[in-house]
Amino acid sequence: MDFKFLIYEKEGYVSRVTLNRPKVLNALNSEVFDEIGRAMDLAAADDGVHAVVITGGEKVFAAGADIAEMATADPVSVYKFGETAQGALNKVENLPKPVIAAINGYALGGGCELALACDIRIAGESAKIGLPEINLGIFPGAGGTQRLPRLVGAARAKELMFTGDMIDAARAEKIGLVNQVVPDGEVLSTAVKLAARMAQKGAVAMAMLKTAINQGLATDLASGLNIERQCFSLLFATEDQKEGMQAFMEKRKPEFKGR
Ligand code: HXC
Repeated sequence: MDFKFLIYEKEGYVSRVTLNRPKVLNALNSEVFDEIGRAMDLAAADDGVHAVVITGGEKVFAAGADIAEMATADPVSVYKFGETAQGALNKVENLPKPVIAAINGYALGGGCELALACDIRIAGESAKIGLPEINLGIFPGAGGTQRLPRLVGAARAKELMFTGDMIDAARAEKIGLVNQVVPDGEVLSTAVKLAARMAQKGAVAMAMLKTAINQGLATDLASGLNIERQCFSLLFATEDQKEGMQAFMEKRKPEFKGR
């Protein structure tokens, strides 16, 4: 598929989505958000893709939504923009396969919100992460007000959003905003290796697992446990469950087929 602002590549069972608008630090306009959504559709439909890595390349993840595009927006056009942005990031969050953000440099505003929609975040030592929207007279509108408090707690999320301050990778790791900090030159390879390990697991179990976690987080404990039980029991209809347990008993590595 042809993308204007993304590079979509596949290596083994891992697909790599690279934001590619370097002149404006990968600023996310509506076309970029739309393309991110389409890249997720592509990854969802492809049985040969078991995990996805989203990166902005070696210098910058993304410096936020496109301020030039938003500067002249009115409430109606910005409502539509918010719908496009949230819709794309919902597709990232709900892709039934692991999605890892590989963050070098700035991940600000909508860029940070894109990373928050991913399952796991790997950051380089000099990454700078923040939600500076308050300094523009707005606030995060691509999921940040909802996903960040769920990830790091309301108080830390409010501190970040109320001040608009950027934090470095070490602080982001300390508060649980990123999973792991690695040397700048090793961000992508670390993310790809992790994705490749996850890609070897049973794809149906992985999809059900992600569904149980995400849907459970969106509801109360009793309903979440119910979702868990339903997803869990469904797996006993798969060949992968039989293979996984048989392989354990035969003391060999399982060969999962994703069915
Ligand atoms: C449009 C942007 C941009 C952005 C950078 N650029 N960020 N263009 N939207 N978010 C452009 C600059 O205008 C400049 O273009 C070029 O990229 C290089 O940026 P510089 O500012 O010259 O680089 P530098 O001095 O290194 O500063 C980097 C920076 C700064 C600290 C990241 O660019 C910055 O503060 N950017 C804005 C960050 C931000 O406020 N993000 C939140 C956006 S609101 P020219 O043509 O001058 O070379 C948001 C809302 C999401 O994300 C809600 C969606 C629904």
